[in-house]
Amino acid sequence: MQQVSEIPVLDLSPEIEFLWDELNTAFQRVLRSGIFIMGEDVSIFESEFAAYLNVKHAIAVNSGTDALVIGLRALNIGVGDEVITTSFTFFATAEAIETVGASPIFVDIDAQTLNLDITQVEERITARTKAILPVHLYGHPVDIDPLAKLAEKYEIKIIEDVAQSLGGEYKGKKLGTFGDVAAFSFFPSKNLGAYGDGGLLVTDDDMIAQTAQMLRVHGARKKYHNEILGYNSRLDSLQAAILRVKLPHVENWNNARRLAASRYHELLRGISEIVLPFEAPYARHVYHQYTVRVLSNKRDKLKSFLQQQGIQTMVYYPMPVHQLPYYRKQTLSLMAAEKAADEVLSLPLWPQIQIETQQAVVNQIATFFGGNA
Ligand SMILES: Cc1ncc(COP(=O)(O)O)c(C=O)c1O
Repeated sequence: MQQVSEIPVLDLSPEIEFLWDELNTAFQRVLRSGIFIMGEDVSIFESEFAAYLNVKHAIAVNSGTDALVIGLRALNIGVGDEVITTSFTFFATAEAIETVGASPIFVDIDAQTLNLDITQVEERITARTKAILPVHLYGHPVDIDPLAKLAEKYEIKIIEDVAQSLGGEYKGKKLGTFGDVAAFSFFPSKNLGAYGDGGLLVTDDDMIAQTAQMLRVHGARKKYHNEILGYNSRLDSLQAAILRVKLPHVENWNNARRLAASRYHELLRGISEIVLPFEAPYARHVYHQYTVRVLSNKRDKLKSFLQQQGIQTMVYYPMPVHQLPYYRKQTLSLMAAEKAADEVLSLPLWPQIQIETQQAVVNQIATFFGGNA
């Protein structure tokens, strides 16, 4: 029998309830316009998003994965090139690099931030390295300054994967404004989620923007005058209209995520087998996930115990990318990423989560470890 979760890991219903009337108005506008792909809502959303991040160009596409693929292509990265990235990410990061014909070069992670260990990047740079692709995992920024120095020294590009960290900041500046290109995902669970697939890339470079705009519509600058091989990667008008309703709330929601995270910090502090998420001094963490580490090899047992109590948790990710079946021929060993994959557990979190719900989660964690919270 399927276990019914009483506390889901993510609950979008309070947000939908809160936005109900605005969403209905937006739906009706799109339905009445008769334009369902691209159209005015998409171009206005692009302008609003560019203004939010204070960047020159925002190009909406079909998914975060496409934003990475199109971003890499627009940077002219392809067959024979190498791109340095983290192994502790969603497969899409590496898949995008493979899709354009380049090779991902996996670097281990920093044990505190769980992001790319920047001290290991320089030794992996070769004559074939074209770019570094840092992933701001769970909402926590990568330490960008040292990467930017390396990029300058070796004349290579930076493409940021901001899929999980929209609104996060590095030294007071928004993520996605540091790379030559940055890719965002609007998968429904993201900090700014559509109600379907969606993605976007940003850049300050006019040429990169022009190429990306062509690539998303079959490589055509002018309709039916296709110049290069591209993709069908247009954003739906309905998704753009939904994203326009949601974008003005994203700062408040990120603040609410931070508040909920600080409540978890307080509630979990006494449980010695749980390592709390880290926030570096340079970081504004936006807690796409509230991910703890469970020590003493007890993560899977704790997860099953919580499931039995009706509490859903998630493991992002049970295997680092270099250990996935696709990479079975690689013999790479990245100890910190492999350890993290055995220990991480993401707890229920969404902006409107109530303290009573968080207390209930922590009570069960404390019960599992034989104490009281
Ligand atoms: C780190 C990371 N990169 C890329 C993606 C791909 O985004 P999408 O699912 O919108 O294609 C995701 C989303 O799941 C992600 O978490």
